[in-house]
Amino acid sequence: MGSGGLAGKTVIVTGGATGIGAAIATSAALEGAKVIVDYVVSPEQALAFATTLASEDAGSVEAFDADVSKVDQVQALVAEAVRRYGRLDVLVNNAGIETRQSLLDTTEADYDVVLGIDLKGAFFASQAAARQFITQGGGGVIINISSVHEDWPMPGNAAYCVAKGGMRMLTRNSAVELGEHGIRVVGVAPGAVNTPINAQTAADPAAMARLDAAIPLGKMALPEQIGDVVAFLASDAASYVTATTVVVDGGLMQSSPGL
Ligand SMILES: NC(=O)c1ccc[n+]([C@@H]2O[C@H](COP(=O)([O-])OP(=O)(O)OC[C@H]3O[C@@H](n4cnc5c(N)ncnc54)[C@H](O)[C@@H]3O)[C@@H](O)[C@H]2O)c1
Repeated sequence: MGSGGLAGKTVIVTGGATGIGAAIATSAALEGAKVIVDYVVSPEQALAFATTLASEDAGSVEAFDADVSKVDQVQALVAEAVRRYGRLDVLVNNAGIETRQSLLDTTEADYDVVLGIDLKGAFFASQAAARQFITQGGGGVIINISSVHEDWPMPGNAAYCVAKGGMRMLTRNSAVELGEHGIRVVGVAPGAVNTPINAQTAADPAAMARLDAAIPLGKMALPEQIGDVVAFLASDAASYVTATTVVVDGGLMQSSPGL
């Protein structure tokens, strides 16, 4: 079993069966963490992922079905981690969707779905995790997977940007409220990452070429390049980092405003 900074810790990763979440779960498990991969929609995919990881030289990986937009399911997710492993050490709010609609085109239903998953989900998962951290004592870590769009407008993706902007303040406000309990809250803002959420862009060679040209490091990130940063920030090696966002974008935000 791994002996990295997360060895022996219990880690929940929401939306952890695919993309960035799967990379975070993999990094944590390879360091020896006990990981709960929260999934929704595809139990087969989550179980296959958990089984693959569990067969490697890693900590344990379990899958649990919780829709983060439902507060009772998020509370059940935290309770399940505690039931299985006796405590919770790290929550990664990673689950997210985007609908790519402008302010003018977004319906109430679309808005509610995006905000429900991307912001309300992270808010109430943070609440459930923080209550558990305080009950058990010894602090804890919450990592919010935000986006460069927590700061950077993206015309045509209004509800997503609003949700990520809210997550930016969720990180700061909850870090300030929870610091006295030894709880750290850190945002991670990826730029463009090669995951299912970007399948449309990845399938269009011209769009990919435009994107790659706009990134100072020359290409989209691999999910592992986000997962490794999250594993570091969740570990004691980052014990003085809180109430801020770490941007992991290959320089994109500084070079291409408005892309
Ligand atoms: N890929 C990028 O370029 C990029 C850039 C910046 C930020 N992000 C953020 O990274 C996070 C992960 O995205 P990704 O790129 O890996 O895409 P992804 O589509 O692979 O991951 C999203 C995950 O969230 C899960 N999910 C969706 N609705 C859910 C719900 N109601 N309850 C629980 N889980 C749910 C999905 O099943 C999926 O596993 C998202 O929050 C996204 O906004 C991605």
